[in-house]
Amino acid sequence: MSFKENVVIVTGASSGIGHELALQLARQGAFLSLAARNEERLNKIAESCKSLGARVLVVKTDVADEAQCKNLIDKTLAEYSRIDTLINNAGFGIRGQFSQQPNLENFHKVMDVNYWGAVYCTRYALPHILQTKGRIVGISSLLGKLAMAGNSAYSSSKFALVGFFDSLRLELRKTGVTVTTIYPGYVVTEFAENMIQLDGTRVGERGRKFYLGWIMKADRCASLIIQVVDKRKRYLIMTFYGVLGTWLSFFSPRLLDAITCWVSWWNKKRVIG
Ligand SMILES: NC(=O)c1ccc[n+]([C@@H]2O[C@H](COP(=O)([O-])OP(=O)(O)OC[C@H]3O[C@@H](n4cnc5c(N)ncnc54)[C@H](OP(=O)(O)O)[C@@H]3O)[C@@H](O)[C@H]2O)c1
Repeated sequence: MSFKENVVIVTGASSGIGHELALQLARQGAFLSLAARNEERLNKIAESCKSLGARVLVVKTDVADEAQCKNLIDKTLAEYSRIDTLINNAGFGIRGQFSQQPNLENFHKVMDVNYWGAVYCTRYALPHILQTKGRIVGISSLLGKLAMAGNSAYSSSKFALVGFFDSLRLELRKTGVTVTTIYPGYVVTEFAENMIQLDGTRVGERGRKFYLGWIMKADRCASLIIQVVDKRKRYLIMTFYGVLGTWLSFFSPRLLDAITCWVSWWNKKRVIG
């Protein structure tokens, strides 16, 4: 119950990993501040969290908008008078070869949410997290460590996020604040459905084909995240592929290239048909 009465902000709490983080932290009795754009969904999740024993605040937030991120932090402080933990989880994916992108709009959009969203929230929360010697968490992706063909926009946003948090960790050394970066592999959520395609539309229902039986479930992912954040670890690389890929990136990058190219070809064939 390490998060009992711990004031935790979770962005992207309306679905998937963020939703599961909210429920599991609620079971520990956390004081939650839940953010995302879909307020109706957030309110339903808040009700479930309250029934599990948590105090919950819902703040409708588009993290791509700096003023809304500031509002999230201000509202959290007004409700709880402190911030202990910030989990920067909000994000989405974009697929398609760079050469086929009709323009760079998608690149800007994904950076605005996945990178800038985390930077804005961290900027406004940091002075308060310093006071509580709290925790900052960045949910990156294996694609923020091991790039894959057809994902240049998403990978760039997650690599940028990693650079930001790695640097921040060093700056915060000796302050008592810890920074944990999470590298999830594939997780069963609505991520694949919400992925944006070359023409700017969502992948939609077709995305569900992406989730094979062996793929990690969101509750398992959330529980691993909570464990490492509780222990104030630097990072967590999930899945066997993540650990193997990281090792290969040092010792046999060409083999890693061949494997990742095969995986992206196989995913495309499976989902797009
Ligand atoms: N699932 C995977 O395979 C996987 C793998 C590696 C990393 N990740 C990362 O894990 C994180 C959570 O994704 P998920 O898998 O749980 O996907 P998901 O089910 O699609 O959830 C994404 C969450 O992000 C929120 N979000 C998206 N754009 C937002 C914006 N502009 N402002 C505020 N919130 C926004 C969504 O809420 P609203 O739409 O209500 O705003 C939703 O709550 C993401 O950062 C993702 O990149 C996922």
